[in-house]
Amino acid sequence: MSADISVIGLGLMGAALAGALLDAGHRVTVWNRSADKAEPLVAKGATRAATVAEAVAASPLVIVCVLDYPAVYEVLADVPLEGRVVANLTTGRPVEAREAADWVTGRGGDYLDGGIMAVPQMIGRPGALVLYSGSRQAYDRFEAAFGALAGARYVGDDPGMAPLLDLAMLTGMYGQIAGFLEAVALVESAGYPLSEFTSTLLVPWLNAMAAGQPEWVQSIESGDYTTLVSNLEVNRAGLETLVRTFREQRVKPDLLLPMKTIIDQRTARGHATEGLPSLIEELR
Ligand SMILES: NC(=O)c1ccc[n+]([C@@H]2O[C@H](COP(=O)([O-])OP(=O)(O)OC[C@H]3O[C@@H](n4cnc5c(N)ncnc54)[C@H](OP(=O)(O)O)[C@@H]3O)[C@@H](O)[C@H]2O)c1
Repeated sequence: MSADISVIGLGLMGAALAGALLDAGHRVTVWNRSADKAEPLVAKGATRAATVAEAVAASPLVIVCVLDYPAVYEVLADVPLEGRVVANLTTGRPVEAREAADWVTGRGGDYLDGGIMAVPQMIGRPGALVLYSGSRQAYDRFEAAFGALAGARYVGDDPGMAPLLDLAMLTGMYGQIAGFLEAVALVESAGYPLSEFTSTLLVPWLNAMAAGQPEWVQSIESGDYTTLVSNLEVNRAGLETLVRTFREQRVKPDLLLPMKTIIDQRTARGHATEGLPSLIEELR
């Protein structure tokens, strides 16, 4: 079923969102601070709103995707929101999402926050994911429309949950990028072919290791760190070997050092016989 949807913010991501909604047959009204960015979407069938208020009035669902939360307030200031669902897909902090939910509901609107786990080129294609939190009623009402953008997952009524999970997934990604870059720098220092190393050794190894990590959750939730793959003393010695090797190869181990620091800290506190999941105790 096609719906009336307004999209506010037509940067790289907002334009991709509006384009996917048009492709799915929805009636889309668009607004952007720099009006020229609406032109390709108007050519595809979107309606251009002259003002933000006109865009908000045009549709029960208003998707906002601008730079940051201050820009969200700047755009929506003084615009009546009664009876509108505001789905804010702008990246931000959980605290900002909760404040924005209060601000929108205080003005008579219903609020959803969204975390986009995709780049613009992935929107409307398999593999893209958007996490939503906030009003369940609003999510259920527009779930089909959200499905045109990406796989849609509702993660709870706390508006801050979608941005928190978004940032947690980025955290996992940055950790993986750190390990990838350090590994490549070490291999490069030895002159081994990088593409062969990454495609036939490193990436299959990382995937196999990641597949086992959900099992760690049981240990973390129970606080029982005795079920071991390897204990912290073995890992402390391993990190020592790694860091010394980096220095001997004249490569900086800077992205690896925080891991060594935390393992050293935990073993110095007398937990050398525990498994790696116990490092979470040092983070809490
Ligand atoms: N690109 C990605 O890969 C990606 C992935 C996930 C999430 N996101 C999130 O999506 C959001 C938009 O990103 P983007 O890639 O589309 O960025 P972008 O291409 O730089 O577009 C930024 C958008 O914000 C608008 N804007 C900035 N300040 C404004 C203000 N004070 N008042 C009104 N409008 C303002 C811009 O309007 P003008 O055109 O007038 O400058 C433009 O529409 C960000 O929160 C980003 O973190 C992006």
